[in-house]
Amino acid sequence: TGTVQLAVIPGDGIGQEVTPEALKVLEAVDSGVKFEQTHYDLGAENYLRTKEVLPPTVLAEIRQHDAILLGAVGGKPNDPDLPPGILERGLLLKLRFELDHYVNLRPSRLFPGTASPLADPGDVDFVVVREGTEGPYTGNGGALRVGTPHEVATEVSVNTAFGVERVVRDAFARAERRPRKHLTLVHKTNVLVNAGSVWWRLFEAVAAEHPDVTTDYMHIDAAMIHMTVNPSRFDVIVTDNLFGDIITDLAAAITGGIGLAASGNVNPDRTAPSMFEPVHGSAPDIAGQQVADPTAAILSTSLLLDHLGHADAAAAVEAAVLADLSDRRPGTTRRTSEIGDAIAARL
Ligand code: NAD
Ligand code: IPM
Ligand code: MN
Repeated sequence: TGTVQLAVIPGDGIGQEVTPEALKVLEAVDSGVKFEQTHYDLGAENYLRTKEVLPPTVLAEIRQHDAILLGAVGGKPNDPDLPPGILERGLLLKLRFELDHYVNLRPSRLFPGTASPLADPGDVDFVVVREGTEGPYTGNGGALRVGTPHEVATEVSVNTAFGVERVVRDAFARAERRPRKHLTLVHKTNVLVNAGSVWWRLFEAVAAEHPDVTTDYMHIDAAMIHMTVNPSRFDVIVTDNLFGDIITDLAAAITGGIGLAASGNVNPDRTAPSMFEPVHGSAPDIAGQQVADPTAAILSTSLLLDHLGHADAAAAVEAAVLADLSDRRPGTTRRTSEIGDAIAARL
């Protein structure tokens, strides 16, 4: 019961098309709560018009909400008026960092009836706990002698004991709640020895407190072999921000495609609202055509409901998606809004 203050940022491209379908489902599901929505017009179009990305006053307002639903941000590729990174860094990462979304939760399940490009994928059901506030994403770098043959550019990965320990603890707690209770650390400790050392030591230290969780370690390159050859071996994966970004696009691809991959940018301490969004971007190549699959955005509302304590409603959304997926027939296509309507109707 009660009211949830929901900040909605549809963003750009297909974000504008999939977000209304996610909201349709959120309204259709019987969660016992009322979602009071505030829509924020942020993203490429807004930037090109106003030259503002995320004014501090707007960030302060968004912070007052209980949760955030985001579509995707990113404008037309190579737009001379839209420097690379301006939205990614200034809006998306700004929200993740400012709202302390240190757990970027990205589940991958091969739902029954969903096609995988792998011949024999097995029973795939794992979750990637991607660190969300550190690593090479912090903007800790610079460039010297730009445009000359002597140019030097750096992006220094930041790994604090505080930041690593808290995400590792969260991953162990999640592994503990799952039937298989297995956690894999993915890194590149053989080359990134400084960052790798802090990840490895804290992983080992926290593992000692969780004797019921089995663990293993893989280098990122080998992990990609295992994810392609035998993805069913994974249960929970904990990894740094950039490795987690890359892993989760592959994870999406082997479990039915990027159109199905949901995510939550979670602040487990609840000092600020968490943000739920599909793993995919604004897909300028298909934007405006009503051909994007809204399922990833819809499944993100299931993660949102679960985070807010509405486990039954979250399960109902997932069940509606599952039923819809098993009814999909190869060779037939539905418009974005038709898929949203069909899933909402099942609720
Ligand atoms: P993308 O995820 O937007 O698209 C990759 C490919 O997947 C494209 O071929 C696209 O058509 C397809 N695709 C994506 N979502 C789909 C869906 N729901 N249904 C069907 N097909 C789908 O990645 P990109 O092309 O690398 O990036 C485009 C822009 O989006 C860039 O500006 C990038 O920075 C931004 N981006 C934003 C987010 C975000 O807001 N969270 C995430 C990723 C990328
Ligand atoms: C994602 C995206 C973002 C990321 C970009 C757009 C900043 O690829 O959410 O996976 O790298 O985290
Ligand atoms: Mn990504």
